[in-house]
Amino acid sequence: MSDISEAPKGLFLTLEGGEGTGKSSLSSTLSAKLIELGLDVTICREPGGTVLGERLRNALFNNADRYESEKTFSSPDPRTELLVFSAARSQLITEVIRPALDLGKIVICDRYVDSTFAYQHYGRGLSYELIDEAVNLTISGLMPSITFLLDLDPREGLRRHGIEDQVNLFGDSERMGGNNYLDFESLDFHNRVRSGYLEMAAKDQERWMVLDANLSPSELTRLAFDRMALYLRSNNIAHFKL
Ligand code: TMP
Repeated sequence: MSDISEAPKGLFLTLEGGEGTGKSSLSSTLSAKLIELGLDVTICREPGGTVLGERLRNALFNNADRYESEKTFSSPDPRTELLVFSAARSQLITEVIRPALDLGKIVICDRYVDSTFAYQHYGRGLSYELIDEAVNLTISGLMPSITFLLDLDPREGLRRHGIEDQVNLFGDSERMGGNNYLDFESLDFHNRVRSGYLEMAAKDQERWMVLDANLSPSELTRLAFDRMALYLRSNNIAHFKL
């Protein structure tokens, strides 16, 4: 296991946001741009990114037969959710993120601890302290240098996931579209997640950059890239040649 007190040589970036905000697209376009420049990039996502993590993801979101599973699978208890996401994260850090950073790579992770605060604290209402405890147990102090928040009205995000304006109004028999059971939480839940994210971002503007997810993919990539370049310049990190 690597020494947790040692500062990583690589650069750790995370992408955050509600449903349908385009995190995975930004992860692809940003990493493609960095790879084009000759940089070594590892991309990953939460929950998932390891064999065990993907199994845990499946356990939560198994949507082989999406309509059927949405009908028979009820949302887990919030503490169960917290523990499953934390377990997947712990494995991802050990197997993927730490080793890549130790090798000096750029790691772009689609969701990280801020998702847990946004969804399990602001969304589900678990106490901040409880989440903080689970997070601290899992990450051993490993926080990203930059976090991009893709901000979008949840109605638009859910529409992008194939759910129309009937969120909050549908009964089980009308459930269609969507990525996973969290898509079907109430619009209030999704609004709490969004405002939680904005609150966290406002409190730590050094780490967070809020991006308007309505912008085009190329504009979002450019803004994220410029922010990253600024971070490297202002922290005198010369070994990433941009
Ligand atoms: P996504 O990565 O396709 O957006 O799906 C992941 C879902 O899991 C999304 O609804 C957010 C949710 N989630 C949490 O509730 N807590 C967490 O800690 C993480 C990583 C994800």
